[in-house]
Amino acid sequence: MKTTKEQQKLELIASLCKRRGFIFQSSEIYGGINGFWDYGPLGTELKRNIRDSWWRDTVMRRTDIVGLDASIIMHPRIWEASGHIGGFADPMVDCRACRKRFKADNLCEEQGKELIIDGKNFKLPEGIICPACESKELTEPRAFNLMFKTFVGPVEDESSVAYLRPETAQGIFAQFANVLATSRQKVPFGIAQIGKAFRNEINPRNYTFRSREFEQMELEFFIKPGSDKEWHSYWVEERLKWYNSVGLPAEKLHKDIHPKEKLAHYASACTDIAYDFPFGRQELEGIAARGNFDLTQHQQHSGKPLEYFDQETNERFIPHVVEPSAGVDRIALALICNAYCEEWVPTAKVQGPVLEAEEGKQPPDGYEARTVMRFHPRIAPVRAGVFPLLKNKPELMNKAKDVFGMLNERWNCFWDQTGAIGRRYRRQDEIGTPYCITIDFDTLEDNTVTLRERDSMQQERVPVDELVARLDPQFR
Ligand code: GAP
Repeated sequence: MKTTKEQQKLELIASLCKRRGFIFQSSEIYGGINGFWDYGPLGTELKRNIRDSWWRDTVMRRTDIVGLDASIIMHPRIWEASGHIGGFADPMVDCRACRKRFKADNLCEEQGKELIIDGKNFKLPEGIICPACESKELTEPRAFNLMFKTFVGPVEDESSVAYLRPETAQGIFAQFANVLATSRQKVPFGIAQIGKAFRNEINPRNYTFRSREFEQMELEFFIKPGSDKEWHSYWVEERLKWYNSVGLPAEKLHKDIHPKEKLAHYASACTDIAYDFPFGRQELEGIAARGNFDLTQHQQHSGKPLEYFDQETNERFIPHVVEPSAGVDRIALALICNAYCEEWVPTAKVQGPVLEAEEGKQPPDGYEARTVMRFHPRIAPVRAGVFPLLKNKPELMNKAKDVFGMLNERWNCFWDQTGAIGRRYRRQDEIGTPYCITIDFDTLEDNTVTLRERDSMQQERVPVDELVARLDPQFR
């Protein structure tokens, strides 16, 4: 259960996200739609940087992984083969009194109990009540398929039913043979994909954490049978390193290892990477060793061979797979929660350390409050703020525009010509811009600018010609 303090933190974060244009409720002017979110200008940049950074590390910087961009709607038989039509269901419970609907396992967990599972059947333990109206009148759990259904073509009947993909992974398995034939890859190798996925979640909740439309970054890494354990460990460690590289600290990340008895029958290992959100420790990514279940299923259901021939050993086999599967939106939320910081900083009047802000209190004399998003420069939505010292001096404005043009061509930068420089810094701090660059009268003399770093608030003079080389490594 969330404590009030944790709830308050999430509310503060959500309010900043709305005020500064990170995240908006979808269709807000019509009252919103539950489980759907829109990303504003800054959220869009943040997500783009997350995707780019994942793609660069997972695909571009390696020679053994290639990309794919499969369609969202695929042949419905894909979902038969994958088991989603038969088994991609959550047990749900309805309250007979207030008619609200809940996910049975969450409901039990929140009330300190465990859902009783007997094969494919579920039962509520004694004493569970409706969290909305406290009634005991709850239905028994029933399976609820999470896939969104639609129809392809003009006729809406059983033969035209199709589904919005609930994961991107199956597109990769379905195109395994084509990618293998065209990419000159050899096992072990991977296929990576980023794209939207859709699940009709019973209870979307915790802000954007569980949504009905979200984005996944999935890798299927195909391996020789028998090497599952070593590749699984390898990918868990690689993925943890990636999370550190975008600024999530090791102490807030956890490896949640699934016990053997809770694994799917075909899986030999599954480890979730979880993060300490304000609402508790929750999964960001699952890394599963899935054996050859998916390719075998598609081979059987499609009748097309999906085997691999190893020319070195003359062996023919269906590759096993290790699947790191991450959610862009969850990572964005973790990065936002992690970055959010309120502190008291000394003004020019005093000398002293930066203090952690105390809730509900005013900063001490000579200090001012600042809200700062400490995004890692790799994923910060705005990489640099560029400020001409005075807007009514054409020489300064022209020089500042040149500097802005040079940087903005490479990275998303922000131009701000209004207000005192201190206020312009604060505005950038609040959206997590790691660097601010001020063009002043000295710039006109010696071609140097003031470069101010967000976290230390240190300022230094840097030649304009060195700016790109200086900043570029921070953003890679
Ligand atoms: N192909 C495997 C797969 O889809 P999953 O654990 O169901 O596994 C992988 O999903 C990741 O996708 C999760 O770790 C999470 O980051 C993200 N994800 C899943 N459901 C989500 C939802 N309803 N809202 C936001 N992200 C979600």
